[in-house]
Amino acid sequence: MNYKIALIRGDGIGPEVVNEAVGVLDAAAAKFGHHVEYVDVLLGGCATDAVGKSYPDGTAERCRACDAVLLGAVGGPRWGADKPAEQRPETALLAIRKDLGLYANLRPATLRPAMAEASPLKKETAEKGIDLMMVRELTGGIYFGQRGRYETEDRGTECTDLMAYSEKEIERIGRRAFELARLRRHKVSSVDKANVLETSRLWRSVMHRLAAEYPDVAYEDVLVDNCAMQLVRDPGQFDVVVTENMFGDILSDEASMVTGSIGLLPSASIGDGAPGLYEPIHGSAPDIAGQDKANPIATILSVAMMFRYSFQRAEEAQAIEQAVDAVLAEGWRTPDIARQGESSIGTREMGRRIREKLSEL
Ligand code: IPM
Ligand code: MG
Repeated sequence: MNYKIALIRGDGIGPEVVNEAVGVLDAAAAKFGHHVEYVDVLLGGCATDAVGKSYPDGTAERCRACDAVLLGAVGGPRWGADKPAEQRPETALLAIRKDLGLYANLRPATLRPAMAEASPLKKETAEKGIDLMMVRELTGGIYFGQRGRYETEDRGTECTDLMAYSEKEIERIGRRAFELARLRRHKVSSVDKANVLETSRLWRSVMHRLAAEYPDVAYEDVLVDNCAMQLVRDPGQFDVVVTENMFGDILSDEASMVTGSIGLLPSASIGDGAPGLYEPIHGSAPDIAGQDKANPIATILSVAMMFRYSFQRAEEAQAIEQAVDAVLAEGWRTPDIARQGESSIGTREMGRRIREKLSEL
């Protein structure tokens, strides 16, 4: 097959981890007989520096001309909250999600076998394993609702952020969750705050309607505060967790933390048809940028997700995942996942070892 892939290298460690992921992508293409072409797309703080805005005109069109988008990381203290919106990297991230219609954000939180000791959870809990898929609604809710700020006579300044959801938005993300559960352990946990929020009550009623359509999938409602507790008490109970945008933002960070290895976790943002966007869930880590210290594995595993979800090529995805597991099982670690006193290797060597392993498989 021929694949055209947009590369958003981004800020901080983004360019280094994308380099290694591209190396692995090339190795996978060679192994399975694909041809890959890359197109660089400028977005994030680096775009602000280059052209004065984080989301240059034409960005979405350039991405739409590709089969998938691979993103390293964007952001950094130089483009902070004090800067105008069009210069902030976060603005660009939200805009590209919306413009490409990437309403489903899949964030697997997996405790890989070789990494069991990295989890901050109790040994008995961690040993049960963690293998959950957070499905976060990504283009609606409070992130994209109307905002306002106005002066009052007696209460000073007042602000609002509106959380709105339509049945249609809820149904399409719900369907994704049920379909994914069918490929996994057949369980969906839907997270809401239906004891307080009207959006959550609509969310819950739509999910119940879908649950009836998928009788082979076990279904439960979980209140968001309880979910936060369950994720540290017994994350092994979850298979697919589906939730609205802001709850998903918070819970996906929590879920990644309990695996103890944020440097290993990939993500996929997908819509209906448009190219999917694949990125590590970690940030741009400006403190270690350019030092060959960053862990490229999350970006490499994002390439595996790209094969699985954009190209429907499970075999390539599995081969990349196996190569990563094999290198970890041999004990190779970047500094972020090395145990105290253990030696570690750099970004480039980790990339090379995974490439070589993949070619040998
Ligand atoms: C994420 C990030 C973004 C979000 C920020 C950077 C806008 O936290 O991808 O989870 O809140 O969605
Ligand atoms: Mg977040």
